[in-house]
Amino acid sequence: MGSRVLVTGGAGFIGSHTCLVLLEAGYDLLILDNFANSSPEALTRVAAVANVALGSQRLQIQRGDIRDPITLDGLFSAAAANGRPFDAVIHFAGLKAVSESIKKPLLYWDINVAGSRTLLAAMDAHACRTLVFSSSATVYGYPVTVPIPESAPIQPNNPYGFSKAAVEQMLTDLNSSAPNTWRIASLRYFNPVGAHPSGRIGEDPMGIPNNLFPFVTQVAVGRRDQLRVFGSDWPTHDGTGVRDYIHVMDLAEGHKAALTTLLNQGPQHLTCNLGSGDGVSVLDVVNAFSAASGQDIPYALVDRRPGDAAVTVADPSHAADILQWRTKRTLGDICRDGWAWQQANPMGYRQSA
Ligand code: NAD
Ligand code: UD1
Repeated sequence: MGSRVLVTGGAGFIGSHTCLVLLEAGYDLLILDNFANSSPEALTRVAAVANVALGSQRLQIQRGDIRDPITLDGLFSAAAANGRPFDAVIHFAGLKAVSESIKKPLLYWDINVAGSRTLLAAMDAHACRTLVFSSSATVYGYPVTVPIPESAPIQPNNPYGFSKAAVEQMLTDLNSSAPNTWRIASLRYFNPVGAHPSGRIGEDPMGIPNNLFPFVTQVAVGRRDQLRVFGSDWPTHDGTGVRDYIHVMDLAEGHKAALTTLLNQGPQHLTCNLGSGDGVSVLDVVNAFSAASGQDIPYALVDRRPGDAAVTVADPSHAADILQWRTKRTLGDICRDGWAWQQANPMGYRQSA
């Protein structure tokens, strides 16, 4: 029997790809998700691709909210009563839209921070003290050095970023309160993009995408007329913003590496960037996607988006050292797989396969 993992937010973009990688590695999963920003169809497809039965011991689903202590207590108690307590939790559940967080800060503090606190209290009460947490490169705010090492200052510039920094601090405090007890990985993702190469699982944003990559794929498939490129006067090689795009399957494998590291090593709180270390501009993405898809991507150069940085690129060396993990996939792979997903599912999961 494999280790058993509770995955919060496992139906979402990063969670669904990570669940697939973990199932293929032999882990048994229970996914807790309220489907606020995802579809149960994603998990049906994860089960199909991994060739496991949905609802079997390998993959169980519970609809529920991380803010509800009764739901959490019920899950941990039932797991223990059935002789299959959780060995670890991977905590993806949360909200992630910067602009929404500026309009609704209390919602972000409630779900991202108070929700994490409720989860941690339940874990502690049930002596499950191994956690992989979804943090974000957004905690660095406007970076002072690029590539960005983990030692860079934490200086978020929006409520979403503060919510991630607050949870990281809560984890640091928890770890200090009970030395040699917790096994925690705070993973700071750079820009997750792409899709599973099968074209069956991918990113399915609700409404108009905020982020570059899903916007580009939706232009390519004809759902949007043109891309607006936010700023062409940045101090970069072509004047457009530079980011560190990471294939979601590399990111999923990074979670597996972090989980294995925690389970195999002693208690610790490790903090890692998960990025490629490569800087790619908006126009580099447009050109690579055009080449991979054979589609024209019409775009207009417009003003900068408030809150953007010119360049955000990870120093990925710490993750390589402590997780023995690094990205393997190229920008071409990202575009090929993102296009396969978007072409097969032009309306995302709302259209059946
Ligand atoms: P996502 O929205 O696709 O997935 C989040 C999942 O959490 C969804 O399935 C959603 O329904 C669920 N959820 C939300 N609130 C919940 C609640 N109160 N209770 C239970 N489930 C809830 O987002 P994603 O891109 O997969 O991101 C996963 C995590 O990674 C998030 O914590 C996000 O902040 C973080 N992150 C994402 C990015 C990115 O660019 N996608 C970058 C850095 C960090
Ligand atoms: C954004 C968030 C960040 C969050 C991340 C993942 C902001 C300021 N930052 O990161 O906190 O962690 O998403 O959710 O919102 N671009 C365009 N046209 C578009 C969309 C984007 O030109 O329609 C440009 C942006 O200006 C940027 C690049 O593409 O240069 C990447 O943007 P995006 O995908 O939104 O990611 P980030 O801004 O890095």
